[in-house]
Amino acid sequence: MANYVYIGVSLDGYIADRNNGLDWLNTVPNPHNEDLGFAAFMERVDALVMGRNTFETVVGFGGEWPYSKPVFVCSRTLKDIPVQLKDKVFLIQGSPKEIMGSLNRKGYENLYIDGGRTIQGFLKADLIDELILSTIPVLLGGGTSLFGDLPEHQVYELISSEVLLNQIVSSRYVRRS
Ligand SMILES: NC(=O)c1ccc[n+]([C@@H]2O[C@H](COP(=O)([O-])OP(=O)(O)OC[C@H]3O[C@@H](n4cnc5c(N)ncnc54)[C@H](OP(=O)(O)O)[C@@H]3O)[C@@H](O)[C@H]2O)c1
Repeated sequence: MANYVYIGVSLDGYIADRNNGLDWLNTVPNPHNEDLGFAAFMERVDALVMGRNTFETVVGFGGEWPYSKPVFVCSRTLKDIPVQLKDKVFLIQGSPKEIMGSLNRKGYENLYIDGGRTIQGFLKADLIDELILSTIPVLLGGGTSLFGDLPEHQVYELISSEVLLNQIVSSRYVRRS
């Protein structure tokens, strides 16, 4: 059982710019549309736990639903899921520990945790086992931070680091203590 973060981050630690924009994720040209390891990562995951804001961003992209695994959207305000997503997306709420426990009991053992506040909640609850960070060489100067305050230090071990498209550093860190 493990909880993973897989996310694109700016050099200054943001995951969205001040306008919630994500265009900067495409700063580095990807002429052959390489998937940069995302499909292989998704193979390791049983389900996604996604914050409501990230869910609304993904829905806003339109087009085909991008996830092959069930998505559990954390929200205390969202009342319903769009009808076309009802067999793929489910609402969930509670503390990170309760959310993880409830999904683990349903057989979803390896979870992809996504969305700024959601990731921060899981980190604060000491529930993240692995961070896969793709650092894009851009300074956004403000926006949604990936990391927030933590009650204690968390030590990770660097398992691998590779340069993608000659510009993006993708680093895999596993929690050590
Ligand atoms: N760079 C990347 O690769 C990347 C990846 C993912 C997201 N993003 C961006 O990050 C931004 C979204 O991040 P965000 O910080 O706004 O947060 P978020 O985690 O996507 O959404 C926050 C919302 O999730 C709900 N939530 C979180 N934890 C909860 C819990 N334990 N129980 C119930 N509900 C919970 C709350 O919704 P309610 O208010 O409804 O209660 C909260 O307001 C978007 O702009 C998105 O595009 C970027």
